[in-house]
Amino acid sequence: MFNQAIVRRPGESLVNGITTAGLGQPDYQLALKQHDAYIQALESCGLTVTVMEAEEDYPDGMFVEDVALLKERCAIVTRPGADARKGETESMARQLAEFFDQIHTVEAPGTVDAGDIKMAGKHFYIGLSERTNAAGAEQVIGFLREHGYDGSTIMISQGLHLKSSVSYLENNKIVVTGELCSKPELARFKAIEIEPEDAYSANSVWVNDRVLVPAGYPVTSEKIKAAGYEIIELDVSEFKKLDGGLSCLSLRF
Ligand code: GLY
Repeated sequence: MFNQAIVRRPGESLVNGITTAGLGQPDYQLALKQHDAYIQALESCGLTVTVMEAEEDYPDGMFVEDVALLKERCAIVTRPGADARKGETESMARQLAEFFDQIHTVEAPGTVDAGDIKMAGKHFYIGLSERTNAAGAEQVIGFLREHGYDGSTIMISQGLHLKSSVSYLENNKIVVTGELCSKPELARFKAIEIEPEDAYSANSVWVNDRVLVPAGYPVTSEKIKAAGYEIIELDVSEFKKLDGGLSCLSLRF
């Protein structure tokens, strides 16, 4: 179960965020409203939400999931793969010092976006992507092992991050789409498969026995409900325009 979450407010500079989506420029005011609703949803799941201020120098800064990996016994500050995002870690490290005594840091030449890291119990799957390299994954696995966890890597070639295409819903269940449906590394899980046209919704988020699902994907919502979960649908259209999913918007621990 999670007790805490950290989010960062979007800044007006979000219009300059990195994107491949081709969905147009995000609307700042609408993004703020969607972010408010996201925070309320986390609170309704019982989490205490720490809200960091926007940093206008970092247009993608609200995607906090990429800059840290948190477990109750372990905090890791990553080294994001995109140069424009590397500086996001400074304020996050200061924030995490309020919660964790020891904080590990990924060092060059390693790069890691923690959106590439899927936690499943005590095991962490790390996607090797355009953002996360083998040197970074090796460092993360080393830190995890110091704290009684373990990790392994999965090569990915589709989507921005591993978690763009797979989410862990606890109880050995995953939501999964695209190339990851046939990855032997994930064969041990009971899979809720998402069709390619709904691929964005494979990034859904388990929070204390509820699942946050992006609004606009009724087939996915029905499948997750049929698997026994209460869902909360959230409109994140403005973050989708920046390739960001629901999970990217918070660190949960
Ligand atoms: N726009 C999110 C990212 O590219 O990291």
